[in-house]
Amino acid sequence: MTQSVALVTGAAAGLGTDFARQLSADGARLVLVARRKERIEALAAELGKARGVALDLSEAGAAERLMADVAAHGEHVDLLVNNAGFGLAGRVAEQDGRRLRQMIDLNCGVLTQLAHAVLPGMIERRRGGILNVASTAAFQPGPGVAVYFATKAYVLSFTEALHEELRGTGIHVTALCPGPVATEFAEVAGFGKAKTFNRLGASSADVVAAGLAGLARKEAIVIPGLFNKVGAQGSRFLPRAAVRKLAGMLKL
Ligand SMILES: NC(=O)c1ccc[n+]([C@@H]2O[C@H](COP(=O)([O-])OP(=O)(O)OC[C@H]3O[C@@H](n4cnc5c(N)ncnc54)[C@H](OP(=O)(O)O)[C@@H]3O)[C@@H](O)[C@H]2O)c1
Repeated sequence: MTQSVALVTGAAAGLGTDFARQLSADGARLVLVARRKERIEALAAELGKARGVALDLSEAGAAERLMADVAAHGEHVDLLVNNAGFGLAGRVAEQDGRRLRQMIDLNCGVLTQLAHAVLPGMIERRRGGILNVASTAAFQPGPGVAVYFATKAYVLSFTEALHEELRGTGIHVTALCPGPVATEFAEVAGFGKAKTFNRLGASSADVVAAGLAGLARKEAIVIPGLFNKVGAQGSRFLPRAAVRKLAGMLKL
């Protein structure tokens, strides 16, 4: 018999920490992953029924090492929260190519690999949940943040397809698409003072609660906040040329 766990990537800060807190309050046993060992170990100790795994998930072979570690601890994943991710602001030609590749690897590659790794067990047990953190960035191209927006478009498309593939299997798959949230994200991405994030940023706890509620309701897509819903869906009613021009005029 293996032990059921919820696996949360990127639990050292922001949304990931709130996922850990809210899932723990719901009684889940947790495996928390991020690079900053002290942070996840302190959070695990505070929450109880939790352990931290310090890993740079963007490194080659990291997802395999994580799944081997879960198996070695006699655990199986009933809930995967694919949350770890980062953005990079700036024109593509001026950015560090290695960091861009790392972002694609983490935001898309690792997310896909972890979902692929946990699915066979979930299908066998006929239950499970996968919550992939996308963004409202997924709904339009993002001049000035091009690769990040493209990674989130991938996450949304992948998640919607998986949601349909798994219909009727007992496995719920949801894409959480937040607008700006006040976390470490803006600073890591290099948005400077990040006015939008500080002024308009939703609370991380509210966004996480909306995501978990949407997963429980078997929703394919959760967009927290009316303003974000209108913005995300509104882009469907405009010509693509207008959408990308408008997106390029937005100053974060
Ligand atoms: N904040 C927003 O406005 C916003 C809006 C829409 C979507 N999102 C998405 O929400 C998710 C969480 O972001 P956040 O806002 O909570 O940002 P955050 O505060 O910067 O947290 C990011 C988390 O990911 C971890 N992480 C980063 N790189 C990692 C790596 N290579 N390996 C393992 N863990 C790594 C970080 O911990 P370590 O640094 O210790 O590794 C941290 O725990 C991301 O996918 C982001 O794209 C954010």
